[in-house]
Amino acid sequence: MIDDVVKLFRELDSKDLRILTGIEIGMKHFEWVPIEELIKYTRLPVSTLEYKLSLLIKNNMVLGIKNPYEGYQIYFDGYDALALNAFVKRGIISAIGDEIGVGKESVVHEAVKEPELAIGEAKGVILKFHREGRTSFKTVKRTRSHLKDREHFSWIYAARLAAKREAEILKKLYPKVSVPKLLDNNRHALVMDVAKGTLLYKTRVLEPQWFFDEVIRQIGLIYKEGYIHSDLSEYNIFVNEDGVQFIDWPQYIETTHPHADELLRRDVSNVLKHFKRKYKGNCKIERDIEEIISDIKNSVQS
Ligand SMILES: Nc1ncnc2c1ncn2[C@@H]1O[C@H](COP(=O)(O)OP(=O)(O)OP(=O)(O)O)[C@@H](O)[C@H]1O
Ligand SMILES: [Mg+2]
Repeated sequence: MIDDVVKLFRELDSKDLRILTGIEIGMKHFEWVPIEELIKYTRLPVSTLEYKLSLLIKNNMVLGIKNPYEGYQIYFDGYDALALNAFVKRGIISAIGDEIGVGKESVVHEAVKEPELAIGEAKGVILKFHREGRTSFKTVKRTRSHLKDREHFSWIYAARLAAKREAEILKKLYPKVSVPKLLDNNRHALVMDVAKGTLLYKTRVLEPQWFFDEVIRQIGLIYKEGYIHSDLSEYNIFVNEDGVQFIDWPQYIETTHPHADELLRRDVSNVLKHFKRKYKGNCKIERDIEEIISDIKNSVQS
């Protein structure tokens, strides 16, 4: 669990970080990084290295095998610790708080960012660790016999790529589109501003028509920039007194993508269905999906 990481992180020393970094680097070339490589990289006495590795394994940061040779892989919590260490060193984060969301593909924490040049107040930020590839990793871990199968550590690449994609799109869209501001990206992790308000599915807005129109307007702005969110729903939209904010971006696509029309329609349809289901009577949303979609597409010309 990530909470353990947080606790453990305080206990990790520079040697542990060196071992984790050594395994991370070694994994570019080896599926299981041989102990000899780690001895070379860390320059630690073998007994210290072995002892520290056994603790890292116990704490779920590293996985090890003894056959056909002694080798190691980094595991999620170990990778989290490396990203966290980078953020702390760069002064992006000074403390990490509660877990506020566990999605299918991420673990999200509250964290604290100190003010620039120590002027002003510390503020709350969001720390998101990507977890793409976890499921396939677990399956392969169970059948650990195929050492030739590269799949079993592809989660690092999958999670890293997803974080990079999410960081890139947030940078491109902010502040034209209402998305949280990206503060930093390292490995499979992102730090961003806390979205304002509440997730749409958790609340009843007083002016559903206004919020619905605002969501569609934002979809239009994103489309105009050349993108489609592709996973939009009441679970990825924050609402607040000033408007809306869209989160959860790694699966975005460009409007030139072969499935662009289908994915745009799905996003709009998810939102429309949510509003129609939740708001009845005189709050009812009376919009037709075809008309909305053509408005969004026409907005590109304007
Ligand atoms: N910038 C943010 N501000 C506030 N809360 C956030 C922010 N980003 C993420 N969260 C919280 O973390 C949860 C998971 O984040 P996100 O939707 O980005 O990840 P996910 O793993 O793709 O989620 P899922 O698989 O459930 O869609 C969100 O539902 C939300 O509660
Ligand atoms: Mg989500």
